[in-house]
Amino acid sequence: MCGIIGYTGKSHAEKIMLDALELLEYRGYDSAGIALLHQGGTEILKCTGRVKDLRNLCALKKPEGFCGIGHTRWATHGGVCDANAHPHRFGRITLIHNGIIENYRELTEKYALEGHLRSETDSEVVAAVVEHFYAGDPYSAIRRTVLKLKGTFALAIMFDDQPGKIYAVRNVSPIVAALTGDGAILSSDVAAIVPFTTDYFVVPEFHVACLKPDGIELYDLSGDQAKIDWLKVDWDVSRSGKGGYPFYMEKEIMEQPEVIRETIQPRIRDGRPDFSQEQIPDEILSGCRRICVIACGTAMHAGLVGKSLIQAMIGIHVDVVMASEFMYNDPVVDKNTLVIAISQSGETIDTLEALKFARKCGSPSISIVNVKGASIARASEYVIYTNAGPEIAVASTKAYTTQLAVLYLLTARMAMARGLWSDEKLSDFMKELQRVPEVLERVLETKEEIHRLSGTILNARDVFMIGRGLDYSILLEGSLKLKEVSYIHSEAHASGELKHGTIALITEDTPVIAVVTQEKLKSKELSNIREVQSRGARVLLLIKENETLDEGEKWSCVYRLPKMEDPFMVMPASVVLQLIAYYVSLDKGLDVDKPRNLAKVVTVE
Ligand code: G6P
Repeated sequence: MCGIIGYTGKSHAEKIMLDALELLEYRGYDSAGIALLHQGGTEILKCTGRVKDLRNLCALKKPEGFCGIGHTRWATHGGVCDANAHPHRFGRITLIHNGIIENYRELTEKYALEGHLRSETDSEVVAAVVEHFYAGDPYSAIRRTVLKLKGTFALAIMFDDQPGKIYAVRNVSPIVAALTGDGAILSSDVAAIVPFTTDYFVVPEFHVACLKPDGIELYDLSGDQAKIDWLKVDWDVSRSGKGGYPFYMEKEIMEQPEVIRETIQPRIRDGRPDFSQEQIPDEILSGCRRICVIACGTAMHAGLVGKSLIQAMIGIHVDVVMASEFMYNDPVVDKNTLVIAISQSGETIDTLEALKFARKCGSPSISIVNVKGASIARASEYVIYTNAGPEIAVASTKAYTTQLAVLYLLTARMAMARGLWSDEKLSDFMKELQRVPEVLERVLETKEEIHRLSGTILNARDVFMIGRGLDYSILLEGSLKLKEVSYIHSEAHASGELKHGTIALITEDTPVIAVVTQEKLKSKELSNIREVQSRGARVLLLIKENETLDEGEKWSCVYRLPKMEDPFMVMPASVVLQLIAYYVSLDKGLDVDKPRNLAKVVTVE
């Protein structure tokens, strides 16, 4: 959470930082600010609101300088107001921070800061502690400060008497750095670096990076110079813009056939699933007695689909645990439990901490991550990257379906490793998986029809979504998508559970979206739909194209999904649900890509 940027070099830092903050805005958008360090001193401009508000402020004040740090905030400590916006300044120190300092109260007391702070943030306390220790040697001040901090932090710091230099240090929260050709840049993720270069490095935890106009130096906390491990962004840079779509969410939905192809094709050899590139040994897939998936939000919903697939096809028990709850439920994981961590950003702190805990318990681990080199990827034994490319809209779409694609591949490889399937069964499964992109293309061609159908819930206050088995799993995600981008209260329910309470809420004013794609559940699902119809609910039904429906019944809205084998029907159905959420948000005139209160990368617990 929170986007951070720093630049020093020959270009105007203000312009570089404002452009970068716009690219990082999906990490938080409560307030924004920049600080410029120049001969005349340090100048700070910050305000509540979006980066565009900061841009207006800059247009008015015309700040100048070639070295600066900037921030776009997702509020944790202290409300949303100008004073709490970053950068923060104390004495000769100006800094920006992403993360949470847990012991900020003790530090406030220890260094007698009460009455001297201008904001309610934990970040300003850090600036004050750096100032306390600063006696002309930035490394020493940073080292001594860091040793006092408890919590997570990514800090970019400027010292008034160190012109042209930006210092960075981190624990857990990410910072990447790179050379731009005419200077050096740091950021909370590669999105802001990609316009300059594809070469970057992740600042290692508890190391101090010093950015200067002519290069970057890296030191460990004992003051020894450290080697920089350069990485390459392998995103298709042309994917970074909106590509002519009004919102990233639509663009990212439309990209799904292509990115799913890119995720599965490199992992198929001779028609079989292949993880040799990832060096995942078959023993890890054949030897485990159970699987524990840890993830949050949309990634957790992908895990639920994985659970259904693996339990049905491999016959081993799979738990899907919300990473934020993992530690509080006395997790039982051991060397026989394969832990699969799923995360688009690879930075979600709850998932990261749960993964680290599981590894300490001796569990083998695989992570499914979209962002190369992210913390979760580095913390797990093996990593499978989804090749979704940059996902900018806060609501996750293509990351979810590429996570599903990886889970299908893993299921098939697990079946192979355990000798469970005949060659014919494996080949049929893999052929069907490879059909997914073209099936999604067919769904996307009907987006105007889906737009029209979304009108049936546009003015609803509450929407219920019902289904069973795999259909229920994808409705959990469909419902999350709808509530996060449209602000309509929406709940997914296992249809069989409705009559145990929730059906009391069903009236003619509560539209119901029902998904029926699983042959063995069809008749039960249709009975549940009749139950809500007889309470007056209007039902939008998503069903396979070949299914016959009783003409005598009141099917006001039906969307016909292209037919796939049942385990794969989640793919076309998910895309329809994503488009419904998107169009409702669009037609309500909302900021589709940046829903209120949310952030794309959640680095606080
Ligand atoms: C945030 C995002 C969600 C995402 C969740 C997990 O809440 O807004 O879209 O599903 O974090 O993120 P991850 O990066 O771990 O997949």
